[in-house]
Amino acid sequence: MTPQSVVARRSVSPVLRWAGGKRWLVPRISELLPALRPTEYLEPFIGGASVYLAFTWPSPVLGDVNEELIATYRSLARDPETIRTRLAALPVSAAVYSEVRDTPCSSDCDRAVRLLYLNRCSYGGIYRTNRQGTFNVPYSGDRSLGPLTDTDALRRVGEAMNNATLGARDFEHTLRGTKPGAVVYCDPAYTLPEEEGHFRRYSPSAFSWSDQLRLAEIAHTLATEEACVLISNSADPRVASLFRGALVLSFERRAFFPRARGTRLHEALYVLADRNTLRRIRRRLNA
Ligand SMILES: C[S@@+](CC[C@H](N)C(=O)[O-])C[C@H]1O[C@@H](n2cnc3c(N)ncnc32)[C@H](O)[C@@H]1O
Repeated sequence: MTPQSVVARRSVSPVLRWAGGKRWLVPRISELLPALRPTEYLEPFIGGASVYLAFTWPSPVLGDVNEELIATYRSLARDPETIRTRLAALPVSAAVYSEVRDTPCSSDCDRAVRLLYLNRCSYGGIYRTNRQGTFNVPYSGDRSLGPLTDTDALRRVGEAMNNATLGARDFEHTLRGTKPGAVVYCDPAYTLPEEEGHFRRYSPSAFSWSDQLRLAEIAHTLATEEACVLISNSADPRVASLFRGALVLSFERRAFFPRARGTRLHEALYVLADRNTLRRIRRRLNA
């Protein structure tokens, strides 16, 4: 039998600002960990990687449908120093921003430099493309590249990514082959059924209500196969009904994104697992 690993905290911070990033959830996930003994870790919606980077997970398998993002992590794993040097040579200005955005990339390293620069200097740090797949977030003008270039932040993320299997693919593909004993953390975009009517998949990262249904079905199946599946999602009752039988941790937070700043967000972490694992988690949370 594969020995079960103890998951430890590590202080590696994300280098990308990512919409829906879950740094705030790390302390709560940390509380659950003593109840879990994962044999492997899968995170199919990796985004800015807050949860992956915060812990030393065994045999990590990471995925995201965003190819630029996965190319960036692959390149950071191979050669963070070249990326750091190239970023340090780029002034932060609207003109350079447009040039970086419009210059075609011919390697993963080019793509990493481009994504890190645009992510750092764009308005709100969001990743958005138009129908032609062109990045179309405006320049923000209020950032420096210092946190990436004056520190060892890129190297530390590169080391963490070097230990992982990375794939630019749909979550269903990443989760194929999940083994009993795995911990699976899923953080999709939060979509509600009413959004389906005017849903258009302009961006590869868009997530429809049917994607939510597909994810819920896979999550239930994995839990019956002895994986422990954690899903961050809206606490909306229609979303909650997709995860019947889950242990639900609820959170109320204030939105910080520009269009809804200050409004209350009701979010949840749904935990699907076998009865013994759920019992261990409950005991841990009540301790
Ligand atoms: C809310 S973000 C994840 C944020 C991440 N947990 C963090 O802390 O930064 C959701 C991610 O799902 C990705 N995504 C959207 N649809 C997907 C799909 N069908 N399969 C895999 N990834 C997808 C997006 O590209 C995005 O990076």
